[in-house]
Amino acid sequence: MNHTIGNRRIIGAVILSLAMCFTSCSRREKVLTFAVGGAPNELDFWEQLCENFQKETGIEVNLIRQPTDTDQRRQGLMVGLRAKKSDPDIFLMDVAWIGQFAASGWLEDLNSLPQSESIEVEKFFPTVVNLAGIYEGKLIALPIYVDGGLLYYRTDLLEKYGFRRPPETWKELIDMSTKVQARERATNPDFWGFVWQGAQYEGLVCNFLEFAVSNNGGLLLEDGKISVNTLENVQALQFMRDLICNYRISPPNTFTEMKEEEVRIFFQQGNALFERNWPYAWGNHQSESSPVKGKVGISPLPSFPGGRKASTLGGWHLGISIFSDSKKEAAQFLKYVTSYGIQKQLALNLGWNPGRVDIYEDPEVLSRLPHLKDLRVVFENAYARPNVPYYTQISEVLQRYINAVLAGKMEPVEALVKSEEEISEVVRNYAR
Ligand code: GLC
Repeated sequence: MNHTIGNRRIIGAVILSLAMCFTSCSRREKVLTFAVGGAPNELDFWEQLCENFQKETGIEVNLIRQPTDTDQRRQGLMVGLRAKKSDPDIFLMDVAWIGQFAASGWLEDLNSLPQSESIEVEKFFPTVVNLAGIYEGKLIALPIYVDGGLLYYRTDLLEKYGFRRPPETWKELIDMSTKVQARERATNPDFWGFVWQGAQYEGLVCNFLEFAVSNNGGLLLEDGKISVNTLENVQALQFMRDLICNYRISPPNTFTEMKEEEVRIFFQQGNALFERNWPYAWGNHQSESSPVKGKVGISPLPSFPGGRKASTLGGWHLGISIFSDSKKEAAQFLKYVTSYGIQKQLALNLGWNPGRVDIYEDPEVLSRLPHLKDLRVVFENAYARPNVPYYTQISEVLQRYINAVLAGKMEPVEALVKSEEEISEVVRNYAR
């Protein structure tokens, strides 16, 4: 081979590979990694949203699909954050564990990002932003949607059995369930009165708090002291067990299997009269393929006599990793997801309750989701779990003991005495 031709080829190849590296390197800068979990329809929605964002901005988004279970989502994110990995750049966080992420120093101050002045923080639920979005004076997250536990009911079945409205008290819920369950079983042996989340995970604590608060109980954490072993809480826990073992209106697999999706699917298949779930279930129940489409109503959860109707405050917030190497792009994505247009789509397409309060006045949203107006009040008064960095440790103790009671392995008093002891230890360790 002639030397000059050979050298030219080599030089050509070097230029080509440099050019390729340059293109792919510069393209890589524009790839944003976004971690999000949820039900299949929610993940499809996010995928479409990422594609639209890319079309509008040229920024490619790599979507990391996480499970629905909040505990698993948290653990998945923590692996990368603990190792200071730059991916994912941006992710959704549960209001329950945002305090832990903030205290670990993993969240970027959103106000320090380019164009931060265009983040319309004043448009979001102020109580929620103050509870979870601000840490040591810094804005570390924005609520994409707010959650609160709700009672779903079968409008057709209540009517069929002569009930004119959903239950106001737990006693009414039992009476209605007992009657309807007995009659419906003639044609559907798998029919149950009331399904809710009783498996050992975060959702169980949310359910427990609703029963407890609706009996004037709850979880009180004050001046480093925890109070969970109260008469009101013991009664609430006994009641949860009775739903399964005494009234027998909730299935035995409540404490082994029932998480949000299991409960949602069970009800959606037409196998229950009442369901406790978050607002996301609405969009699924009303979907084209749903056997209960057009037969579902929503109301606040019932209460005990003298108690108040209670809903645990849930919801997911968007935050940017302090280790991200694409913060500018991440900020653009955050602006996009929190814009009026996208927040409206979240409500219309998924039935979610947006973090932005102005959506609750949108005429189209209100005509298609009339219940949203009342829900805004439910969310404003929802019961917040303690926003402390060690909340997940508190929750782990509660999950274990409450689930043991549901499984019949322990009595409510013993479980709450032990919970209080162990949680006090968690609090003491943290203060040390
Ligand atoms: C929902 C709520 C979240 C809660 C979780 C429990 O995702 O939004 O706040 O912790 O359910 O399963």
